[in-house]
Amino acid sequence: MPKLKIEGVGEYEVPVGTRLVNALEDNGGEPLHRCGGYARCTTCQVEFLTGEPETMTEAERTKLENKKDALGKIRLSCQITVNHDMHVKVLMPFSKSGLDDPGSRPEDHITP
Ligand code: FES
Repeated sequence: MPKLKIEGVGEYEVPVGTRLVNALEDNGGEPLHRCGGYARCTTCQVEFLTGEPETMTEAERTKLENKKDALGKIRLSCQITVNHDMHVKVLMPFSKSGLDDPGSRPEDHITP
């Protein structure tokens, strides 16, 4: 199983194909996912320290291209599946957000 290291949290084994946002959620990474994983809100954003996937969904690319200074710096964890070892930093953790809830849980597969 691939290893997912969450900066400041820990290192975990994650089943291949797990949606990154849900792997973070299930292992104490506290990602926000305010749009429910539909590449609309960017609150699930992460920085890759190692293991950044080379490919991107069309929805992620479109969203990052339309957000200032995002492409090449952040990735949307709702648009990525864990298929190899990764080390990421959650950039907008729920406990620091001041929000009442992180958003509804994204589906197990990538949407839209
Ligand atoms: S863009 Fe909203 S949860 Fe990923």
